[in-house]
Amino acid sequence: MPVVSLSPIRAVSGLLAIPGDKSISHRYVLLGALASGRTTMRHLAPGADVRASLGCVAALGASVLRAPGGIVTVDGWGEAGPGSPTGPLDCLNSGTTMRLLLGLLAGFPVSATLIGDASLSNRPMRRVMDPLHAMGAHVTAVEGRAPVTVTGGRLHATTWTPAAASAQIKSAILLAGLRAEGSTTVVEPAATRDHTERAFPLFGLTCAVDGLRVSVDGGQRAVAPSGTLDVPGDPSSAAAWAALAASLPGSHVELTGVALNPRRLGFVAALQRMGATVAITKTHVLGGEPVGTVAVTYGNCADTTIEPDEVPGLIDELPVLAACAAHGRRLEVRGAGELRVKESDRISALVTGLRALGVSAEEFTDGFVINGRARLPCGGQADAVHDHRLVMAFTLVALGAIGPSTITDADAVDVSYPGFWTDLAALRVPLA
Ligand code: S3P
Repeated sequence: MPVVSLSPIRAVSGLLAIPGDKSISHRYVLLGALASGRTTMRHLAPGADVRASLGCVAALGASVLRAPGGIVTVDGWGEAGPGSPTGPLDCLNSGTTMRLLLGLLAGFPVSATLIGDASLSNRPMRRVMDPLHAMGAHVTAVEGRAPVTVTGGRLHATTWTPAAASAQIKSAILLAGLRAEGSTTVVEPAATRDHTERAFPLFGLTCAVDGLRVSVDGGQRAVAPSGTLDVPGDPSSAAAWAALAASLPGSHVELTGVALNPRRLGFVAALQRMGATVAITKTHVLGGEPVGTVAVTYGNCADTTIEPDEVPGLIDELPVLAACAAHGRRLEVRGAGELRVKESDRISALVTGLRALGVSAEEFTDGFVINGRARLPCGGQADAVHDHRLVMAFTLVALGAIGPSTITDADAVDVSYPGFWTDLAALRVPLA
């Protein structure tokens, strides 16, 4: 439970290169393990989550090497397929690792048990187990929670409509579909991040996208890309600084190298509605993902509502948007019940932590409302309940308070953004 003490700052200002995207990194690592040949990646997400994916694929027989210059290589198992690991595969805190790996392994003749930390062991896995069962896979767990054991074998295609809009469910099914007999289709209830679909062609794989339907033919073979895969910056990490700049008068930040995938940029429209000026400049394309600069300037506070249909495009950014609202805006969020099954119950823990910092906040079953005020009265002590996104959100609130604050479990930020404190130090403008 490491505790961080934070003093208020005046503003944030400056230029920052954003570390590699977590979602894209997981996909490159897992597809690299599946492929024949060596996948070379640069600028992988630096946090513990992607380390979990690297550790799991290594335990399954892929060879993982870290080279100078931030390069990581994965020699995939290719035609030989994965080997059965000698012990459980530890996915740590990473839901993406566990869910995508279940799909990846379901069609191979291996047996593996996937475990995770206390948070991951409490998260729902039936959402992935059910479609895999429909494809003929053997996946077992007690009450749909980790440890989950997958004993792979022959799969047949299915058409599946997940109950939740979730890129993890979609991706698990598509990965399993690569090994199934026939053509597997996912019909999404709402569009979710499409990094798996964009990554497939890099590995010689195809999928067909038709609106909310994504189909993959079985029997495809993945091949390592010939060049180096550069991972663009994580929009969820960029969103923390964007929200902080939108919170503190006088702020201006330019965040470079950010993945501009339209399905990840819902936070931009939300911040604009809250009064910030946000300029997006596309500079290049990496691995089928548009990349560019997000520039944010503080603007006068305005109230807004986030509607249910916006939620999939900003689900991971809701905590920092709530923190931004704490500084003088009213923000109402509906249709975000999925937040309750993230690394923590992010509705309850967010509202509890915000209140502990002096913010007026109420929870709904599927969302919350924040009634913010400029310069929060005194600071306080918030518990991030070991959830990386809550560490960032509570930090944003604390930095705009009048007095000092403390955050417990602040080390959880390492899950996605270990350089968070260093980057904050680079951007902060002190009070006096
Ligand atoms: C992710 C998908 C989202 C997101 C998570 C990463 C991914 O989860 O919240 O942080 O990489 O596919 P769901 O698919 O469960 O919504």
